[in-house]
Amino acid sequence: MKIKTEDIQNLVETQNNWRGRECLNLIASENAQSPMVRSIESNDFMGRYAEGHPNTDSEDRRYYEGTRWIDEIERIAQEEIIELANCRQADVRPISGNAANTALALGILRGGDSVIVNSIEQGGHISHNPIGVVGRRIQKRGQVLTPGKDHSIDLHYWPTTPDGYHLDADACVKLLEDKRPNLAILGKSLFLFPEPVKEIAEACRNMKIPLLYDGAHVLGLILGGCFQDPLGEGAHFINASTHKTFPGPQRGVILGNLEGDEEMKWWTSIDRGVMPGSSSSHHLHTLPGLVIAIREMKVYGKAYAEQTISNAKALGRALDEEGVDVEAKEFGFTESHQLAVRVTRFGEAKTIARQLAEQNIICNYNQLPGDPDPRYPSGLRLGVQEMTRMGMKESEMGEIAQLMGAVMKGKDVLQQVGRLREQFTEVQFC
Ligand SMILES: Cc1ncc(COP(=O)(O)O)c(C=O)c1O
Repeated sequence: MKIKTEDIQNLVETQNNWRGRECLNLIASENAQSPMVRSIESNDFMGRYAEGHPNTDSEDRRYYEGTRWIDEIERIAQEEIIELANCRQADVRPISGNAANTALALGILRGGDSVIVNSIEQGGHISHNPIGVVGRRIQKRGQVLTPGKDHSIDLHYWPTTPDGYHLDADACVKLLEDKRPNLAILGKSLFLFPEPVKEIAEACRNMKIPLLYDGAHVLGLILGGCFQDPLGEGAHFINASTHKTFPGPQRGVILGNLEGDEEMKWWTSIDRGVMPGSSSSHHLHTLPGLVIAIREMKVYGKAYAEQTISNAKALGRALDEEGVDVEAKEFGFTESHQLAVRVTRFGEAKTIARQLAEQNIICNYNQLPGDPDPRYPSGLRLGVQEMTRMGMKESEMGEIAQLMGAVMKGKDVLQQVGRLREQFTEVQFC
C-alpha cells in the first residue's frame, strides 16, 4: 500500500516558500543556513547512536559500535571550533543552547547552591531562572518553585544601570563578594550590549567561582570578532546555540577556557552533565553541517558579523525616524544583531506582533525592562541576522522600518513585503 505523503510534503514546501522566500524574518534566535549546511544534513547519521567520546587508536570511548565516521567528524568539529574560538576545550555534543545550559547546571550545581543570573525581566533566559534548569535543580517532589527554599537553587540577579540594558559592573562585583555564589552566569536573550565580563571575571577568578557566559544569541558575532571576547576577558565557559547568529544547524556547544586541575574538575563534571545528564546520542546527522558552518565562519564570519551589527543600528535609526520607540536610543540602540522596540503607543505588543506576522513580517513580542507584568509585554524583539545573511544592507533596513511603521499604523503592506523579499532569496557569506 502506498503511504500517503503528499499532504506533508505540501506543508513542508509551503513552509519553505513562505519563510524561505516570502517573509521578512526578524526573529532574533533564528537564521538561514547555507545550501551546503542544509543539504549535508540529510544523511545516514540520522537516528544512529554514538554515546560517549570519539574512539582513538588506543582507547575505546564509545558505548556502541559502528561509529568510525562520526568519530572522525566529531573530532574535526571539536578541533575546528576550538581553533575558531581560540579556546582550550569544546564539547560539541549538546543538541541546543538549552541542553548546554542543562549539562553545565547538572555538572556544576547541587541543591542548596546559589547562582547569580540575569532575571527574565532584564533579558535573561528562562533556563537560568526559576522555571528553567538552574532555578529548579534538585527540586523536591511536590515542592513549589521558590528560589532559596530547601534543595532548590538560591538565585540572585545582577544589578543593572537605570536604563535596564546594561549591568552595573561595580554593583555586580559587590554582589559577587557578598553572595559568593557557586556559579555566575552572564549573557541573555534580549541582548543589546556587551556584558562587563572583565570586571566580573576578575572577581570570579579571585574567588574561584565558575563564570559562564551564555552566548546563545551572540556566538556568531563573537566568533566574527565584532561583539566582545568573553573568554579573552576571563569567562571560564561560553554556552551557545549554533543556529542563532552562528548560522549552523540546530545544536549547542560548550566552549571552555580552563587551566589546571581544579578548573578541569568542572569540565569532568560537565562532561557527565552532557552525557548521560542531558543527552544520549546527539542528533548526529546535524554534526557535519556544524563543521561546514564553522568553516564558513572562518572565511566570512567577520564580514557577516560587521554587516549584521551595522544593519541592526540602521534599522534602529530608521524605526526611530518612523516614530517607533526604539529602546536604548541614547546608546545608539544596539551593539548586537537585536533591537528592542516599545510599541505601547500603537497597541499591545502581542497584537502588534500578530499583525506584523499577518503581513509576513515575523518577530516576537518580548518583555522589556520595567514591564510590570510579564503576561502583558510592551515590546518586540527584532533580529536582523537572517535578512543580513540573505544579502540585505542598510537601505533595505530603511524599507523594513517603513513597512513595520505602516503596519503599526494599520496599513496593509503584504504586496510590498513580498516585492522586497523576492529580491533576496540566496544565502550570502558562504
Ligand atoms: C540566552 C539563551 N540561552 C539559551 C537559549 C536556549 O537555546 P536553544 O534554543 O538553542 O535551546 C536561548 C534561546 O533563545 C537563549 O536566548
